[in-house]
Amino acid sequence: MRPNAMLAQLRDTIDQIDNQILDLVEQRLTLCREIAAAKDGGNGLKLCPDRQRQVVDRLTDRANDETAPAVPHIWREIMAQAVQVQTPTRILIVGKADRDRRLNLVRQAYGSAAPVEWIDDEADALAIAAADDAIVVLPGAIGAALPAGLSSFDQLRDEQGVIVGRLVGRIAQPAAPSVGRTRSWRPHSWRSRPAAQQPCYPNMRELHRVERRLAARAPLVELNDIDALRSSLAAVARGEAVLVQGGDCVETLREYSPGKIRLTADLLLQLGAQIGGAADVPAVHVARLAGQYAKPRSSQTEIVGGMEIPVYRGDGINGEDADAAARLPDPQRLLAVHDQAINTVHHLWDGSAAGSDPVYISHEALLLNVEQALTQYDERSGRWWAGSGHMLWVGERTRQLDGAHVEYARGIANPIGLKCGPSMSEDELLRLVEVLDPANEAGRLVLIPRHGRDRIADGLPRLMRAMKREGRSAVWCIDPMHGNGRIADGRKVRLVEDIVAETLAFHDIAAAEGIWAGGVHLELTGTDVMECSGGGRRRWLGSRAPYLSGCDPRLNRQQTLELGAAIANWHAPSARRRAG
Ligand code: PEP
Ligand code: CO
Repeated sequence: MRPNAMLAQLRDTIDQIDNQILDLVEQRLTLCREIAAAKDGGNGLKLCPDRQRQVVDRLTDRANDETAPAVPHIWREIMAQAVQVQTPTRILIVGKADRDRRLNLVRQAYGSAAPVEWIDDEADALAIAAADDAIVVLPGAIGAALPAGLSSFDQLRDEQGVIVGRLVGRIAQPAAPSVGRTRSWRPHSWRSRPAAQQPCYPNMRELHRVERRLAARAPLVELNDIDALRSSLAAVARGEAVLVQGGDCVETLREYSPGKIRLTADLLLQLGAQIGGAADVPAVHVARLAGQYAKPRSSQTEIVGGMEIPVYRGDGINGEDADAAARLPDPQRLLAVHDQAINTVHHLWDGSAAGSDPVYISHEALLLNVEQALTQYDERSGRWWAGSGHMLWVGERTRQLDGAHVEYARGIANPIGLKCGPSMSEDELLRLVEVLDPANEAGRLVLIPRHGRDRIADGLPRLMRAMKREGRSAVWCIDPMHGNGRIADGRKVRLVEDIVAETLAFHDIAAAEGIWAGGVHLELTGTDVMECSGGGRRRWLGSRAPYLSGCDPRLNRQQTLELGAAIANWHAPSARRRAG
């Protein structure tokens, strides 16, 4: 066939497919109208938020990897139209603040079919919703009790996953018990959930090309080693080993060198020998390396030289230079940092002596497009596993129970870390643990408290007691870094004394609760930096200090070993008691 004739034929086929799609959409809307009439005789609001979620979840499950990302967008519009067909419904946004941003978020979550109005007075808006077909968007996550007949049926979240509003209306159907977690899992299941802290790429097609290239690459780790780490962590959970996890806050292209990787690995091994030696148990070593290229950030932008520009989010996403162009997310960076991860893995393992302790690799599972692309399936055991690292953790800002990160993490066979900050309630922890470790398997979960020196005594015992009460097994491992940030000379700094104090408080609390103090999770580097203040013989040098971190301040070698000595000292008497 001549090329032109072939093109014409293909277009003709596409036209026919479009006709069929249109016929199906119309059939669907007709059925919706009939359902609406069946619900309550044709009056009243027809919202069924749970049903909407179920439809999107089911179709995302069914879709192939290429189509899955589009499913929530396409069906959001179809279902938004369906609501209008059933009963024309307005959306009323209360309050003037942040108008455009909130409108955008509403449109992203609920499609573009409903007319939107702004209304100043909350009571007026609620009165309209109680009597009429309207959805009210209230500011904030919580508020006063609602008038009879109205329920708060959903939350509006911003790009960071922070709740910025709640949706209130008359619901046609009481919320059915959530069936969300019993449904099957696929590497793309996370796409039907809100994903906090994701970069906003200007070019999605390029991102998809990069995902396909990553998916074609070999995994960085092996399932055998993941299983080995799980059994070692099970020993930690039983109190028969300690976990020593640490490395850069964020790995950068700028600071990369084979020598630096060896120094960091050696420092972890030395710290493990110190703590394990004193506690008289083996140490398990896990580096924050070969994947730690993206950071969650508390704010999306910063002011530099009077200009507001997007924040730096790690070399895997954008550039450190303080200008708007450098800060634009670029998917090609994902390939560059993955190349560096491959090299990092080689240097980490090539340099280590045969028979020496393994140093496993870990990072925060933040960029789910990347994690999905590197996810592997093991035919023999029928398990999915992340190929990007032995252990992944879910961060403090992305651990929403119904969010995309928890959804991704629950399906993979790797050990999962979970950051537990001061805002976490016992109930939240138990629900997360149920989702992430339904079978209560020792070695699956590493809980990483990061309350801060002043808050740990208040926050941690409750969490430990709740886990114990429920008979839950986990590794408990203290992150004494992220709750102890300060600013000095315009820079992030941490005091070694705060870090030591929180670490020892953690050990005391665990002992008092009858729980094994399983180890530490640190930001450290074996190179000679001065980013944390205190410890060692050197004075803090203010702005002249060698500060190379792309994000948070790390402990240097000497500071790390001082912390190690304090922990060893804590363990020593009890180990002696056990030996005697
Ligand atoms: C981190 O470990 O680098 C981090 C961002 O921690 P958190 O999620 O606990 O703030
Ligand atoms: Co950090």
